[in-house]
Amino acid sequence: MENEVMKCIKERRSIRNYLVKDVPKEIIEEIILAGKYAPSAENRQPWRFIVITNREFIKELSEKVKEQIKKLLKKKRRWKKRFKELEDERLILFLQAIANSKEDVVFHNAPVVIFIITKDEAFNDESCACCAENMMLYAWSIGIGSCWIGLAKFLELDEKVMEGLNVPKEYHVSACLTFGYPAKIPKTPIRNPSADVIKWIE
Ligand SMILES: Cc1cc2nc3c(=O)[nH]c(=O)nc-3n(C[C@H](O)[C@H](O)[C@H](O)COP(=O)(O)O)c2cc1C
Repeated sequence: MENEVMKCIKERRSIRNYLVKDVPKEIIEEIILAGKYAPSAENRQPWRFIVITNREFIKELSEKVKEQIKKLLKKKRRWKKRFKELEDERLILFLQAIANSKEDVVFHNAPVVIFIITKDEAFNDESCACCAENMMLYAWSIGIGSCWIGLAKFLELDEKVMEGLNVPKEYHVSACLTFGYPAKIPKTPIRNPSADVIKWIE
């Protein structure tokens, strides 16, 4: 049934092109509130939020991600043993393009970056993913775009950056999201047909 929630779920897009316009602090707090109402294992609410609105710092973080990708690509033979994905030549080309770009192809010049960090405990990442999706959907419902930035995981390889972000030693980055007013909304990427992804047991 096409109600408001379904409409929001279907229309939300990952935004990689933002207006040069700040998101007011009260709105960021509302987005986080939506996250805090997500389900979590045993209602443990294992998330902590690191909110960055300093554009210079976001640029620096983008460069740090690129540095880590460059390091990984230099030692890709060693990493391939751990990550089979690195056998994929398309992924290597994608990472090379990110690492060599002069633009902020990591955080897409977003005015807000939020790291959701959590301790390494059972179901914490699942709970944080629910939290992240709540945040992205609520943001979309009030005209704010977002994008999950998996590439930000590379920052975990840089201890100094983690310290600079005030991530306690026992925490890791569960999700990293950008937020901002969309300048361009991409077309909906094709979804796989239900018949291909649902197996009914009746
Ligand atoms: C775990 C995860 C990691 C992602 N990492 C990135 C990323 O590093 N950079 C990016 O531009 N988009 C990233 N995305 C966004 C996906 O590319 C996007 O959700 C997908 O293409 C579907 O598009 P849609 O969100 O507009 O429906 C990520 C999404 C998820 C869920």
